[in-house]
Amino acid sequence: MREITAASAWIGFDRYMDLALYAPGLGYYTAGARKIGDSFAGGDFVTAPEISPLFARALAAQVAQVLMLVATDQPRHILEFGAGTGRLAHDLLEALDQIGVAIDGYEIVEVSADLRERQRQLLAGRPVAWLEVPPTGFAGVIIANEVLDVLPVRLFARRDDGLYERGVVAEGDTFRFEDRRANEPLRAAAAQIETDVEPFVAGYTSEIGLVARAWIAQMTQVLAHGVALLIDYGFPRREYYHPQRRMGTIMCHYRHHAHADPFWLPGLNDITAHVDWTALAHAAHDAGLDVLGYTAQSRFLLNCGLLDLLAAEHTPAQSSAVHRLLSEAEMGELFKVLAVGRGVRAPLLGFAHGDRLHTL
Ligand SMILES: C[S@@+](CC[C@H](N)C(=O)[O-])C[C@H]1O[C@@H](n2cnc3c(N)ncnc32)[C@H](O)[C@@H]1O
Repeated sequence: MREITAASAWIGFDRYMDLALYAPGLGYYTAGARKIGDSFAGGDFVTAPEISPLFARALAAQVAQVLMLVATDQPRHILEFGAGTGRLAHDLLEALDQIGVAIDGYEIVEVSADLRERQRQLLAGRPVAWLEVPPTGFAGVIIANEVLDVLPVRLFARRDDGLYERGVVAEGDTFRFEDRRANEPLRAAAAQIETDVEPFVAGYTSEIGLVARAWIAQMTQVLAHGVALLIDYGFPRREYYHPQRRMGTIMCHYRHHAHADPFWLPGLNDITAHVDWTALAHAAHDAGLDVLGYTAQSRFLLNCGLLDLLAAEHTPAQSSAVHRLLSEAEMGELFKVLAVGRGVRAPLLGFAHGDRLHTL
């Protein structure tokens, strides 16, 4: 609130999202709320690794393949961004152990002190280290599950007289949107989308994830040899900016209630935007990384043997969890997996059938 007042009463939505999620001591990810977990545990949302350990076990098959390709005579490392409760790291390490793949180190980059503490408790005694900043020259597998959707986005609105940036102003003790003429970088990014899809009609509003693009470009310094597996909800550009999706994809989460009002209880709500996978694949390619595969989460998990894993330990609870991970109506189709890498040529297991790179 203080910063908005100081910034002549207007800040871009990306700055608002940044403050609401990451302001020291006050933001959703920097303050002490429970965040991830079922409603009984006081969480706001659940993620795939929390739904079933079979998610990590299936992912382990892909991780093992990459580690075999990369680390023939080097230490085997995994680097996870935004590890949440640490559940994925925990189950992945266990799954790799079960299939006889030894790991030399598992590093985590986590912005949330509160989640880092939960991770430390769950992962006590495991070969895990926490890094303040991403390493450079990393060899191995990078994983980011549901991290890209919490990176700040800029909002735009097309009007009859041009493109506007949707920002935020304080009003009493709450906030409201206010539009200003878009600056050149935002106009250029929107123009590229219009070229790729079709011109926005007046009244069309959406968001552009420039921070996520920069995050991917940064992978070029991080990843020297190996593969980054990025898992999140989103669409190829043509679907994302479809004329019918005229209100964008901002979605907030509070106690398992999903809503579209980012001004309601800032700091207590997760604020997210879907991922424009086309933008991220291009950003990776432009930064010199290879774009290795892109598919729906369901297809990726099936390629990694999820149904065999389920058959091996079938219970009604696991079967219903797997249904959630695979079903088109739940996570199976909305969530995608993008693999980008360096120095890895072999086709990746998770994209063996149903690769959709051609849609980006
Ligand atoms: C939606 S949660 C997903 C957690 C976990 N990956 C899972 O699947 O359960 C987002 C996670 O990313 C972390 N995070 C957010 N921004 C980040 C950033 N820029 N770098 C690293 N972690 C970040 C959050 O603190 C949180 O752990």
